[in-house]
Amino acid sequence: MALTSVLYHSRRLYSDSVKSVTARKYVLKKHFQGEPKINDFDIIEEKLPELKDGEILTQAEYLSVDPYMRAYMIRYKLPTDMIGGQVARIISSRNSKYPVGKYVTGSFGWRTHTIVDPNKPQKSSLLPLALLPDIKPYPVSLALGVLGMPGNTAYFGFTELCKPKPGETVVITGAAGAVGFHVGQIAKILGCRVIGFAGSDDKCQYLEKELGFDHAFNYKTVNIRATLKDAAPKLVDCYFDNVGGEISSAIMYHMNNYGRVAVCGSISSYNDVSLPKVTILQPAIVMKELKVEGFLVTRWADRWDEGIMANHKWLQEGRLKYQEKVYHGFDNMVDALVGMLRGENTGKAVVKV
Ligand SMILES: NC(=O)c1ccc[n+]([C@@H]2O[C@H](COP(=O)([O-])OP(=O)(O)OC[C@H]3O[C@@H](n4cnc5c(N)ncnc54)[C@H](OP(=O)(O)O)[C@@H]3O)[C@@H](O)[C@H]2O)c1
Repeated sequence: MALTSVLYHSRRLYSDSVKSVTARKYVLKKHFQGEPKINDFDIIEEKLPELKDGEILTQAEYLSVDPYMRAYMIRYKLPTDMIGGQVARIISSRNSKYPVGKYVTGSFGWRTHTIVDPNKPQKSSLLPLALLPDIKPYPVSLALGVLGMPGNTAYFGFTELCKPKPGETVVITGAAGAVGFHVGQIAKILGCRVIGFAGSDDKCQYLEKELGFDHAFNYKTVNIRATLKDAAPKLVDCYFDNVGGEISSAIMYHMNNYGRVAVCGSISSYNDVSLPKVTILQPAIVMKELKVEGFLVTRWADRWDEGIMANHKWLQEGRLKYQEKVYHGFDNMVDALVGMLRGENTGKAVVKV
């Protein structure tokens, strides 16, 4: 290799052109009451030190807003840095495996710049630190959606817990969101009959017309029990539960014997101060001999790449479609989080920094 090429190469890998960077980050100072509010946070500046050997400096390009952020923060002692996944570009590096210009995903939280040593064990998190492979022509933001944590939640949660068979009837709540619209598409790929419940007529139209769901219903306007009777005359074999609450009880009373329920989340109560009461479920579980199992996607951390690759393949084959609701600006993180919790998104909600 010519000397100029060596110099160029090493400058790219071990760029020290970024001498001093000030990161901005959200610090939670007050536990959420109802919907999150901007006043629950301070946005503070943090001067970052110079890189040590092995470390990289990243600049956030897309930040994720996810329901777990609303549900989890109550566990943290305040003040605390806000949690969350992001796709970030490496802007300085002292690690030859992580060159400048490449992208990484990581659970860095709501912050603009981050110094991290990829060789050191990361805090357990929903989005592992990983170098993003080339996913062109798709946007890097998909690493937070269909090619990231929600995609793997759909892939593993549905296939491993529901164990769907061709011809079976699958019901999904939260069906137009990041996990739900993905589960429905996998169910169609696997030859199932798919019924989704989502929060607007537009979302339902998208699920039926664009994604090929057999039926989609606006849970805010239909009678759930009557709708299930009509749309699932042979009863429900698999239920992927994103929302919990009374709608889930109604669906579980409409299941076949030996039906399988994957309990993914309960977003219908995340903003509630106390847990709501719903129709007792044990009679349905016992009499129909249902298998009901909750899960966290981190259960499949050791198979993470398998899920990403399966979803990437379906995407390339045109069998998996995606949609994103993109919010703009680091200062609008709270609006984005609240917007997602209110149902503004179809598909994955992300923030372009
Ligand atoms: N177990 C795991 O490892 C894991 C991992 C990722 C996500 N999750 C869970 O999966 C679920 C979906 O997450 P996501 O990331 O895909 O979010 P998402 O569905 O993209 O966004 C949240 C959606 O929830 C719906 N929603 C809000 N309030 C609701 C209510 N009262 N009743 C019913 N639906 C309501 C809204 O859609 P509508 O317009 O339809 O109301 C909103 O778009 C959440 O419960 C989340 O906690 C679990």
